Amino acid sequence: MLASCTMLFAQPGTLIRIGTAHTDLFLNVGEDGRLYQAYLGPKLQQPLVIQALPRSEHLAYVSFGTDNLFEPAIRITHEDGNPSLELNYVSHQVEKQDDNVTLTHIRLKDPQYPVEVILHFKAFEREDVLEQWTEIRHQEAKPVVLYNYASSLLHFDAAHYWLTQFHGDWAEEMKMQENELSSGIKIIDTKLGSRAHMYQTPVFFLSLNQKSDENSGELIAGTLGWSGNFRFLFEMDEKNSLRVISGINPFASEYTLQPGKSFITPAFIFTYSNQGKGLASRNLHRWAVNYGIMDGDKPRLTLLNNWETTFFDFDEPKLTALLDDTKQMGLDMFLLDDGWFGNKYPRNDDRAGLGDWQENKSKLPNGIGYLVKEAEKRNVKFGIWIEPEMINPKSELYEKHPDWILKLPNRPEHYYRNQLVLDLTNPLVQDFVYQLVDGMLTRFPGIAFFKWDCNRMMTNAYSPFLKNQQSHLYVEYVNGLYQVLDRLRSKYPHLPMMLCSGGGGRVDYGAMQYFTEFWASDNTDALERVYIQWGYSNFFPAIAVCNHITSWGKQSLKFRTDVAMMGKMGYDIQIKELNAQEQAFSKEAIQNYNRLKDVIWRGDLFRLVSPYEENRAVLMYVNDSKDKAVVFAYTLNARFGESFNRVRLQGLDPERSYTVKEINVSPNGSSVLPATDNAHTGEYLMNMGLPVSAGQPLTSVVVEITAQ
Ligand code: DGJ
Repeated sequence: MLASCTMLFAQPGTLIRIGTAHTDLFLNVGEDGRLYQAYLGPKLQQPLVIQALPRSEHLAYVSFGTDNLFEPAIRITHEDGNPSLELNYVSHQVEKQDDNVTLTHIRLKDPQYPVEVILHFKAFEREDVLEQWTEIRHQEAKPVVLYNYASSLLHFDAAHYWLTQFHGDWAEEMKMQENELSSGIKIIDTKLGSRAHMYQTPVFFLSLNQKSDENSGELIAGTLGWSGNFRFLFEMDEKNSLRVISGINPFASEYTLQPGKSFITPAFIFTYSNQGKGLASRNLHRWAVNYGIMDGDKPRLTLLNNWETTFFDFDEPKLTALLDDTKQMGLDMFLLDDGWFGNKYPRNDDRAGLGDWQENKSKLPNGIGYLVKEAEKRNVKFGIWIEPEMINPKSELYEKHPDWILKLPNRPEHYYRNQLVLDLTNPLVQDFVYQLVDGMLTRFPGIAFFKWDCNRMMTNAYSPFLKNQQSHLYVEYVNGLYQVLDRLRSKYPHLPMMLCSGGGGRVDYGAMQYFTEFWASDNTDALERVYIQWGYSNFFPAIAVCNHITSWGKQSLKFRTDVAMMGKMGYDIQIKELNAQEQAFSKEAIQNYNRLKDVIWRGDLFRLVSPYEENRAVLMYVNDSKDKAVVFAYTLNARFGESFNRVRLQGLDPERSYTVKEINVSPNGSSVLPATDNAHTGEYLMNMGLPVSAGQPLTSVVVEITAQ
């Protein structure tokens, strides 16, 4: 509901202010009628300073074909073949959505052609986050072709620019790299289509003048809400000015836009901080919990998953035993993974059955319904894995609908994990995917959770549905996916769903509008996980990041448990292989987690010691009222004679007294934290710190801090 809406026509020189509690973005209308970016930085308080902002030469949304000499935000060809676009300011509108959210829409128009570009901004006052996206429309007699259509263009003027990016591959997601930008263009992008973020996650920090650390430095943190090909382009010009152009990757994606239709880009989401990366992450976390992810304010389910313990090899008795384990451990839900379907081509490995979503009769003679009932009997919930966008050539679906598959008509099929991608641009395929989920929920209303997987990228991609508009494929695939998810969400608004893509191969805030959480990586070795989770923590809140305790890594159960706790904890381990002591430890850890999860999920994160800088990682979460905090300290390695300094905590109330208690103490071990540290004031904890790091490699300490 809109509280207020104002339409404005600015004069040359007028400033348009798009601000949050601590940030301002000013745009101004130049003498030439164009729109310029006048300022982006800390909030300006004094009217005189605002009036004195220097004249800017930075066009707010640079077009191609007239006088621009650098990478444009937009490039189009008109129906008469003219490749130029000029954009002049026409008007803008400010809508106050509520006391926290303000929308600003700025209308630009070409003086020669009936082409309009609307720049949309959404400012989140309290979270200090801005979203920016673009709408392009025209009334030419015939279609125009869009070649570039960025969501956002931002300008910076600094002496140096440091870019932090996060890249990886299967089982090695979110590796952090920081480099100084040099003159010319640096691009972070993906062309993978479906499992789009397998090599590059659409997130970055851009530090201005010098490198930022957790608590100091000026930077923006940026991300794109789009589950397909993205591109961040950083161009430094001859004057050392930097343009950051963010949006869908225009590569092989020219888009034919019909008259009267709108092309709407996804949102570029960013926050500005002049107090380092830590504040930027906290801003994004708060925004994500309040606006960016599905049901950020709702609880999540702890779970037992069967993937790493059974893989495809299970039957009813094995699964019912796992339901018993779920109950016995005090977990909320059992999640049945891949392998439950396919009859003509049973899904006994990854070579067959994908697409045939009927229960496999020999593994599950009594079907899903039986498992749902067995779960209900034990008072635990039942969740299930699907991979609805994909198909094995060895499947009945393939035999029935070869025209539903992305593949070139005149070249051999190209497989990855023995599978192909369905053509989600086709409304019939969208219906099929919708009906798979809707059908299962209708038949088995007791299903409480879906894990939605997507194990391959696009290669040899050709859409039989799009015919001679193949360059729309990458865009329309994602739109098709969102259409299905929109339909599902309007019928099942609160059903928890985990986003998965062979681990973290598709993690972005476009998808997170529909998903409550994501599977961060198939790599569950707890040592690797410290780095992977550290990476995600820069942009995504702990409530969204699923961490499971498994047998992949050979570290102690305590270490694995403590690592999984800094997110949405689950288990994927043979409970029966844990001895009595380990089971007791785990049950207590689950209780500890249940007590502390709200602090972890929705508290402020302070990354205290980076695993990229020391042989350990230390981080903590503090709740809003500063009366509860939890510290996680992981010793990754310890060289001969190496000892670790005390760690100063952050985010507490200096005036208050706190009880300090080590929890998750290992079955045979004793507390690492000296008894003398069992109570301190916030001032002490934040200045003297705590000796939280154990001296042995692959050990960990969890400390619960409670205001007295
Ligand atoms: C990839 C996922 O990341 C795994 O967790 C598991 O669900 C497998 N797919 C199943 O095929």
